[in-house]
Amino acid sequence: MTDTELRVSKIEDGTVIDHISGGQALNVLAILGIDGGSGEEVSVGMNVPSDRLGRKDVVKVEGRELNQDEVDVLSLIAPAATINIVRGFDVVEKHRVSRPNEVTGVLSCPNANCISTDGEPVDSHFEVLDDGVRCTYCDTIVRESITAHVSVT
Ligand code: CTP
Ligand code: ZN
Repeated sequence: MTDTELRVSKIEDGTVIDHISGGQALNVLAILGIDGGSGEEVSVGMNVPSDRLGRKDVVKVEGRELNQDEVDVLSLIAPAATINIVRGFDVVEKHRVSRPNEVTGVLSCPNANCISTDGEPVDSHFEVLDDGVRCTYCDTIVRESITAHVSVT
């Protein structure tokens, strides 16, 4: 990588989520539960030029190593993402996201009468299909715009 491509500073320890589909960075933050109130040190690059994707987004989280379960949910909106674990400024681990079989508590069901959305203390739970996700409680299928159903709580 050349210096001109470095739009956001390197981090010392933490996680770099690279090769996020252009425009999806804010949804990635929502899925990871990162907002201004979480107090974490986060850098975001949006629509950065990329050889592989044309344009990509990049999210860098200082001081936190994301685990595989957390990042697998990202595959629903950023299938090409790479997860880089950084220690002492070096990338010590690099892996791809993989599609989970199920997702608990990240997305919210669009059915207002669903037990997971009507005020009961029940975590949402979805089965991941080839082309969307299905609510385990009411069988509602979300095919498009999954990100519209990310619950930002
Ligand atoms: N990175 C960072 N801070 C570091 C080390 C790396 O922010 N201390 C970022 C780089 O800017 C890059 C990503 O982590 O966006 C992956 O780094 P690296 O593996 O060095 O880059 P590439 O070889 O270009 O990665 P790839 O082959 O996955 O495209
Ligand atoms: Zn439901």
